[in-house]
Amino acid sequence: MKIALLGLGTVGTGVVNVLENNKEKIAGLTGETLTISHVLVNNIDKEREVELGGAVITDDIDKIIEDDTIDIVIEVMGGIENTKDILNAFLEKGIHVVSANKDMLAEHIDELVGTANKNNAQLLYEASVAGGIPVIRGIEHSLNSNEITKVLGILNGTTNYILSKMTIDGWSYDQALDDAKAKGYAEADPTNDVEGIDAKRKIVLLSRLAYDRTVNMEEVPVTGISGVDITDIKNAARENLTLKLLGKSEFRDGTLAISVEPILLPSDHQLAGVNYEKNAVFVNGNAVGEAMFYGPGAGSLETASAVVSDLINVIRSKDSNHKNFAPDEPAEIKTGGDTGE
Ligand code: NDP
Ligand code: HSE
Repeated sequence: MKIALLGLGTVGTGVVNVLENNKEKIAGLTGETLTISHVLVNNIDKEREVELGGAVITDDIDKIIEDDTIDIVIEVMGGIENTKDILNAFLEKGIHVVSANKDMLAEHIDELVGTANKNNAQLLYEASVAGGIPVIRGIEHSLNSNEITKVLGILNGTTNYILSKMTIDGWSYDQALDDAKAKGYAEADPTNDVEGIDAKRKIVLLSRLAYDRTVNMEEVPVTGISGVDITDIKNAARENLTLKLLGKSEFRDGTLAISVEPILLPSDHQLAGVNYEKNAVFVNGNAVGEAMFYGPGAGSLETASAVVSDLINVIRSKDSNHKNFAPDEPAEIKTGGDTGE
């Protein structure tokens, strides 16, 4: 089975490593020999950390789109409009797509799902929210017996890393941000992390699944952590409070309240104890009560864990009559975004 890997940075390298390290387990689960036949990068001359066998390494996406032997595409390159067009082109051909790209998905998931469903293709995107934590699958498949009323969590590893380093280790904001970049948690442009845009994209994707409504990104209020300094953190600690950037949404009586903002939590609150690059998401359903998902929100192998699981799940279900989740009603969003939490 031939796979095209679009992107070979932090996550793409992790994908190659997971496929190699766990190849016997993966072959057992899929009954297939998986080959990365094409790799798309920006700079074909850059030295790579991983062995790519006989894969074609190219910066020409048309070469990959035109190749009719590819079965599945893994997109871990980032970008929004152009990347959406590229993935649409593969889905039009009935090729299954796995993506970690929340920037693009939060804007265009309904269009891509439309193309996928028309062409009997699958679009899986577990890694796009909360890195290695199976929260997309958890909401879509494991909590689908519930009416979900609330989703609340720490959804960005970079900002949680910065706030934790400032709170626990006394680091400055800039020192912590530089370290998050070096560790591969931050986006290429970390503005989206620190201004809360990345968390907004994730709460939009989770809310769409949780409440079976399309959600308009533009209507979601957001405040990031770029204005926070060490004095705020120290003052809060004196009062037994811990600052966390939270994404939250509540769906009641057909109306959605949704927002991203920094919030002071009592230091013994469960979310106050979620530190560094870890993420955690609470989901409330009318049967399950409250469920919590916890784990690594970013990182190379951690994110690749989710990407490769999607790949395995695509292969295992490709001959079934799979339909991608597609809400057909827009959420009515309550202005102000206050969920009262
Ligand atoms: P990187 O910047 O580390 O890697 C991006 C890769 O894509 C590079 O190999 C780059 O090529 C290639 N690339 C980028 N743009 C193009 C283009 N236009 N044409 C061809 N190749 C291109 O990003 P990450 O691996 O960190 O992230 C990848 C995706 O995964 C993003 O959507 C990100 O939001 C998402 N994600 C990241 C997580 C993380 O922890 N890092 C966690 C969850 C999701 P070259 O190597 O030549 O520069
Ligand atoms: N930049 C993102 C984060 C990567 O820090 O959470 C994972 O989506």
